[in-house]
Amino acid sequence: MALTREDMSAGLSGQLEVFENRMKQRQAELKSLYTGLYQNSWMYAELIGEMEKYYSERDDRLKRSDAYRESDPSWYRKNDMLGMMMYVDNFAGDLRGVRKKLSYIEEAGVNVIHLMPFLDIEKGRNDGGYAVRDFRKVRKDLGDMADLSDLTTACHKRDICICADFALNHTSDKHEWAIKAMEGDSEYADRYFIYDTDEIPNRYDETVPQVFPVTAPGNFTRVDDKYVLTTFHPYQWDLNYKNSRVFNEMVYNFLYLANRGIDIFRLDAIPYIWKELGTNCRNLPEVHIIVRMLRLITEIVCPGVLLLGEVVMEPEKVVPYFGTVEKPECHVLNNVTTMATIWHTVATRDTRLLRNQFDIVTALPKEYVFLNYLRCHDDIGWGLDYAFLADCEMEENAHKKYLNNYFIGVEGYSNSRGELYNEDPETGDARICGTTASLCGIEKASMDGDKEAMAQAINLDIMLHACMLMLSGIPMLYSGDEIGQINDYTYLTNPEKKEDARYLHRGKFRWDLERKRINHRSKEYRIFKRLRELERIRANHRAFLPEAEVLTVNTFEKSVLVVGRYLDGEKIYGVFNFSEHEKTIWPDEDEGFVDLVSGDMIPVKELTLPGYTFFILCKDEYGK
Ligand code: GLC
Repeated sequence: MALTREDMSAGLSGQLEVFENRMKQRQAELKSLYTGLYQNSWMYAELIGEMEKYYSERDDRLKRSDAYRESDPSWYRKNDMLGMMMYVDNFAGDLRGVRKKLSYIEEAGVNVIHLMPFLDIEKGRNDGGYAVRDFRKVRKDLGDMADLSDLTTACHKRDICICADFALNHTSDKHEWAIKAMEGDSEYADRYFIYDTDEIPNRYDETVPQVFPVTAPGNFTRVDDKYVLTTFHPYQWDLNYKNSRVFNEMVYNFLYLANRGIDIFRLDAIPYIWKELGTNCRNLPEVHIIVRMLRLITEIVCPGVLLLGEVVMEPEKVVPYFGTVEKPECHVLNNVTTMATIWHTVATRDTRLLRNQFDIVTALPKEYVFLNYLRCHDDIGWGLDYAFLADCEMEENAHKKYLNNYFIGVEGYSNSRGELYNEDPETGDARICGTTASLCGIEKASMDGDKEAMAQAINLDIMLHACMLMLSGIPMLYSGDEIGQINDYTYLTNPEKKEDARYLHRGKFRWDLERKRINHRSKEYRIFKRLRELERIRANHRAFLPEAEVLTVNTFEKSVLVVGRYLDGEKIYGVFNFSEHEKTIWPDEDEGFVDLVSGDMIPVKELTLPGYTFFILCKDEYGK
């Protein structure tokens, strides 16, 4: 039956009421934050008007999902979420290709896919997609906005969420605004930090550290006779968020993408977005005001959307991005320190720091959701707790050097095959690149044709995943890790990539290897299958819910980490041997534990673990 005009406007006004109610609850705070920062009520009014417009344009299907998620605000705080991050072209050619591969994604147990940057960029100069030329256009070779909407719709039908990057700190120098700025249009020049002389740039440089000291030195770039602030690469122009026009327009871009069905926005390089002379231009209070405003705007227009903050810094800097329980900022944050600490533990076989790190993370409010991962598209930086390590007799500089040497395979009984990234010849500082499998020794074992070493490397690879899965939050796999994919050296022959070792672990997904899964002896089969088992264990046991108590246990054996999770009478222990040698521990526990991986009853009074193995032990209140 066709709707009458009255029916339609009744429906619409009914919907608008939802928007207005959400607005009513939040507008006092939003207005005071906005006008406090910008003293511009005209621009505030424009923002509100646009928010209403994006709300009205939002698809009914997305609005229903918003309503559902609003009614269950903990929808993403469960134990059955599993992410996978991937480059669209590497994984499946283009967005349509990804749609065709959704069955594989489901088979891998994945229900969140993070599509690495897919927006319009300049070929060659784009920092892996993080120098966006047009926030409303898909990279031509990957498809168009209609393909994106089709993909998100297809994903939602299968209960898969889509995460996308929102690189809001900068635009490409080929973005329309940057071009107009260079043509001398002051309206656009004011959206960046552009100076005629080096006076202010020099003052910035006195206090602002460099992000890429080797591959992209300097904070400023000479463009014609001007100096432009480019914190990252010379072609990534920092946006000036002191200009309310910048904030408003970027919010509109955000809402535009949210309306294409994006569920999670990764706020790229978020700590850097506010600049102030005389500071290090990181984590300034205004950054938190902006993130809080983004959260409020999201809650009003598209409350089903999550904000994931990319804060690659030490824990004290990361946690404030959750905001407070009353005034939350990001919904989810990357657990970067745990990731780096896991790799430190691999190189040292000493779990003391990791245990401490687990204790820090698990002592935080249970509402805080972390995204846990072993590898991502970036390098591993050694942001560890060096004060703690000093007590373990590991001095910062020497230790960093050791870790780098370990992962390039030249020190410390290492089978790793990583490469250095941004190695500073003066300070000796560097970071590490490489896939999980290559860092665990799978690449070397395969080259050497050494079966025993291969079995050991696979065990280590799986154990690290098992260890990551012990944490509450959202585990995120790096595409290819589920089949143990090794480094890709083809980047060295590509002039656009060869200077950036991060491409070592950004290779094409190897469907030819994936097909080897039919052979049960293949490494691909073994890794894929065992990871699936672990993910199922996690999803099927309540003790993996975020409300569980999580405690580490002292084993008096440096190489063995024990993490306990307790909920509703269920007790789960993850026991991980980070050494290649057999280790024995004597837990202070009665008998009656089942190893959830093998299904065997395990006598726990004396527990012996072969090198690089683990148990996931479980006992419920009935002793089962
Ligand atoms: C983020 C990305 C990284 C990129 C940087 C600049 O840190 O993860 O790959 O280089 O932002 O956009």
